[in-house]
Amino acid sequence: MGRERELDQVSAVLARPPAVVLIDGEAGVGKTRLLHELSSPLLVGSCHPMRFPFGPIVEALRDADLPPGLNPVTGALRPLLPEFSHLLPLDPPPVQDPQVERHRLFRAVLSLIDALQPITLVVEDVHWIDPDSRELLAFLTRCLPAGANLLLTYRPEDASFPVAGFRSHLPPHIRHTQLSLAPLDVEETALLAKHLLPDPPDLWPLTLGVPFAIEELARMLAEGRGPGTPPALRDAVLLKIEALPVAARRIVQAAAVVDEPASERSLAAVAGLPPEQSERGLAEAVRRGLLHQPSPGRYGLRQPLARQAVYDSITPGVRRRLHRRVEAPAETKGAVSPREEQVIGLAAQGLTNREIAESLFLSPRTVEVHVANALRKLGLTSRRQLPGNTE
Ligand SMILES: Nc1ncnc2c1ncn2[C@@H]1O[C@H](COP(=O)(O)OP(=O)(O)OP(=O)(O)O)[C@@H](O)[C@H]1O
Ligand SMILES: [Mg+2]
Repeated sequence: MGRERELDQVSAVLARPPAVVLIDGEAGVGKTRLLHELSSPLLVGSCHPMRFPFGPIVEALRDADLPPGLNPVTGALRPLLPEFSHLLPLDPPPVQDPQVERHRLFRAVLSLIDALQPITLVVEDVHWIDPDSRELLAFLTRCLPAGANLLLTYRPEDASFPVAGFRSHLPPHIRHTQLSLAPLDVEETALLAKHLLPDPPDLWPLTLGVPFAIEELARMLAEGRGPGTPPALRDAVLLKIEALPVAARRIVQAAAVVDEPASERSLAAVAGLPPEQSERGLAEAVRRGLLHQPSPGRYGLRQPLARQAVYDSITPGVRRRLHRRVEAPAETKGAVSPREEQVIGLAAQGLTNREIAESLFLSPRTVEVHVANALRKLGLTSRRQLPGNTE
């Protein structure tokens, strides 16, 4: 669905080797699918969380059709590709210096790519690359054969190093491009949903156009299950949460409980974290793509389905504590409490007390008290003065 522009862009670059193409995008946005729609010949290897040394390179080369008459240096690949031992030249004699041996291995890969051109070597999920493959890719980008391309895909939120760095220090004759895949828009989401379900509801608000989420939600609806978060999505979110440092996890849980974009101060108060830890936790949660900033200074879970998954995963004791802190008066005297901040945040958007009450499941009277207290603490006399004063 969609992606015509992106396919044209990538195809045009690949048609004029040597080129380095980087495709980034969040999990499930369609990076792998885009590759499947390309018509140029690809050799694809994937990085895995286990980070096996040279894993993606071995995976990619394993699928190659080796031509006869290979350069003797390619014999250095025998230990990595035993399945090709009948096709590769003899292993060159060992050398003492491990760095020399390593250079020979790198040259062997280069020589094999040279023999396979025209070809595009694809390394998928570079956020999980092992150190050896990373070094090899840096080497390859500097001396790509004239008929070869290198295409890398990755999730920026899971990368622990700047993947875009592969584009730096490229020789001038090597073209390069970066494509950031965005989720589908509202219409494309509706078209994909229609393709998957006979009479689909609007899936955009829950999936924000991420094709994997659309597919999973459609599957759940087709099977008559729900409401809730599709299991595959829930598991993906829970894996991410588990990998977070404790402070970041608490901040994400606080955001799930507050359920409206909130300031760093509010999230810290609900999470029960001192400023330094909450600052680091928030930065990490944003970097890992779990929280986003829909408006300046306000943070919330990026996907509604992810919020539900996080919320459901919080143990009852912790959940109670977090809820209690949402209602608790702020510790600093005179400061606006998280709940008051949430209420005036909505008032600043022009919602009436009744609408705020409905949205937060509070009584209109409680909302009135929160608004009055917050205005007093902020030194304001009317809610009309609120926009811009909610920080
Ligand atoms: N434009 C699209 N139209 C229809 N289906 C799509 C589209 N993009 C992706 N999909 C489907 O959505 C699912 C997720 O896509 P894909 O596996 O390509 O995501 P990804 O970006 O590679 O994710 P990950 O980072 O987890 O590898 C797949 O089943 C894929 O076929
Ligand atoms: Mg993929």
